[in-house]
Amino acid sequence: MPPASEYAAAQIRIHWAMMALITFQYLLSYSVLPGWHYLITTNDFFFTPGVIVHVVIGTLVLALVVWRMAMRLRHPVVTEIEGFDPWLEKLSHLVHLCAYAVMIAIPLTGLVAYFGDLIPMSVVHNVLALGLLGLIGVHASGALYHQFIRHDGLLMRMVKSESSGQ
Ligand code: HEM
Ligand code: HEM
Repeated sequence: MPPASEYAAAQIRIHWAMMALITFQYLLSYSVLPGWHYLITTNDFFFTPGVIVHVVIGTLVLALVVWRMAMRLRHPVVTEIEGFDPWLEKLSHLVHLCAYAVMIAIPLTGLVAYFGDLIPMSVVHNVLALGLLGLIGVHASGALYHQFIRHDGLLMRMVKSESSGQ
């Protein structure tokens, strides 16, 4: 398929839906802790509402990121911006790539820690969750730089699409 000049409407919807779900995960991440501490001290599962919500939403994020990556591969988008520093362009691609990798690794390490009884994985999970926060900070700052300093309309690529569906 030839590269498109914009994201499809479905890609835009998934981007913002995932942002909402990931924000929710951070805001309520503490709610997984009582059930998790019960599990590591007694070796028995204790599915508190907090555990269920964290696991279900986290697994949904995993499903959405896989779907989104498949869509990205089937629907390549030209993301170069005219007159933009090629190094910053490369940096933004790297941040996107790392964000995809980390959005897959966080739920996987969480699932392995919880159901596979691998406590060290929970440390990796927490470190990756911190790393994703950093990536989101750089990414969102970049988007705001385009919007308010360069005024190049990049943000609109993730807001509105002329094409519908995929
Ligand atoms: C997008 C997906 C996810 C995000 C952003 C996320 C984020 C987090 C964060 C920030 C914490 C630290 C909580 C704190 O110390 O206050 C945490 C803990 C934890 N999460 Fe997730 N999580 C995700 C998915 C999952 C999934 C799918 C599971 C599967 C069971 C899971 C299992 C756990 C466990 C067991 C802990 C406790 C680890 C510990 O304290 O050592 N997470 N998560
Ligand atoms: C949880 C938070 C977020 C995550 C994980 C995330 C992740 C991503 C990823 C992976 C891409 C690359 C899409 C692709 O090319 O396949 C992307 C694109 C984009 N994101 Fe985000 N994003 C988040 C929040 C935000 C926020 C808060 C903004 C605005 C302030 C934003 C604005 C954009 C824009 C404008 C693009 C398109 C960039 C381009 O066309 O080069 N994102 N996002």
